[in-house]
Amino acid sequence: MTTALVTGGAGFIGSHLVERLLGAGCTVRVLDDFSTGRRENLSSVAGHERLSVIAGSVTDAACVASAVRGADAVYHLAAAVGVTLIVAQPVRTLETNVRGTETVLAEASRAGVRRFFLASSSEVYGKSDRIPFDEDDDLLIGSSRYCRWGYACSKAVAEFLAVAYARERGLPLVVGRLFNTIGLRQVGAYGMVVPRFVRAALAGEPLEVYGTGRQTRAFIDVRDMVEGIHRLTDRAGPEPLIVNLGGEREIAIADLAARVIRLAGSSSAVRQVSYEAAYGEAIDDMERRCPSLARARAVLGSAWPHISLDASLETIIAFHRS
Ligand SMILES: NC(=O)c1ccc[n+]([C@@H]2O[C@H](COP(=O)([O-])OP(=O)(O)OC[C@H]3O[C@@H](n4cnc5c(N)ncnc54)[C@H](O)[C@@H]3O)[C@@H](O)[C@H]2O)c1
Repeated sequence: MTTALVTGGAGFIGSHLVERLLGAGCTVRVLDDFSTGRRENLSSVAGHERLSVIAGSVTDAACVASAVRGADAVYHLAAAVGVTLIVAQPVRTLETNVRGTETVLAEASRAGVRRFFLASSSEVYGKSDRIPFDEDDDLLIGSSRYCRWGYACSKAVAEFLAVAYARERGLPLVVGRLFNTIGLRQVGAYGMVVPRFVRAALAGEPLEVYGTGRQTRAFIDVRDMVEGIHRLTDRAGPEPLIVNLGGEREIAIADLAARVIRLAGSSSAVRQVSYEAAYGEAIDDMERRCPSLARARAVLGSAWPHISLDASLETIIAFHRS
């Protein structure tokens, strides 16, 4: 029987992962400071006999040490996330993502955990224009004058720290570079595009597309994401594994807005908004972001991910409508 610690387990992706791990028979501990996560995200498993929830920060070494004691696996998802939050709170972003990760790695390594998953981000590819992004590509982070690159950089440092612990201290490691993930419980407050669009479409308000709208993203449903995280982490071995996890079908953000309007049966308009107006400062945005999935599929099979963008959007729209 595996005992798993999920940091950030009350968040969007974390709460789906907790459900999956409980479903697989694991005993699960959640460590979360509830800054962007919510207790309600865990309402479907509240009171579960194999679930315990610890309120605390990943930057608190004593708290992390006690949470990780006796755990076999650690899934480190806690982070400052979302462009709005990152731009508004750059210090907190770097502290949480760098110091928090270092603390969790140090305590997990000391406790002798047998599997460690680090949630990294497609943002580490930065301004790379080699599409699709391959895990061995160079990371091209933009200027430190833009706060958004602080997030990318913090995730890259987290990866280097994790690989250092794997190589020097023998920590069995999987680094997942997560691409845009969508699904139930994601909130739009920190800059996530799909919940913003769905809310506006259902309210009959304009959908605000930042920049030209020609920038593309590839989305993955959170259910596929947690399946990937779970199955890959079970493969953690002596050699650190860095792997892209995401969808590979790109869609321009303006087309995504039109798709949400159509699926929601809405009469909302689409309005272009500059990055300065949206975030209070210029955003050095990436035109395209699309993963190579060859490495993930070597483990997860060629049919992964299974859920189409339309099916995913329909689930989200139906939930918000009800
Ligand atoms: N959602 C995406 O599209 C996406 C894309 C790339 C990477 N990721 C990564 O996946 C992970 C989960 O993201 P998410 O979308 O579920 O976001 P989220 O904000 O819903 O989840 C983050 C969780 O971490 C918690 N947290 C933040 N600071 C903490 C601290 N100091 N101590 C303890 N807990 C803390 C929050 O309360 C929240 O529950 C993050 O590491 C993020 O960088 C997500």
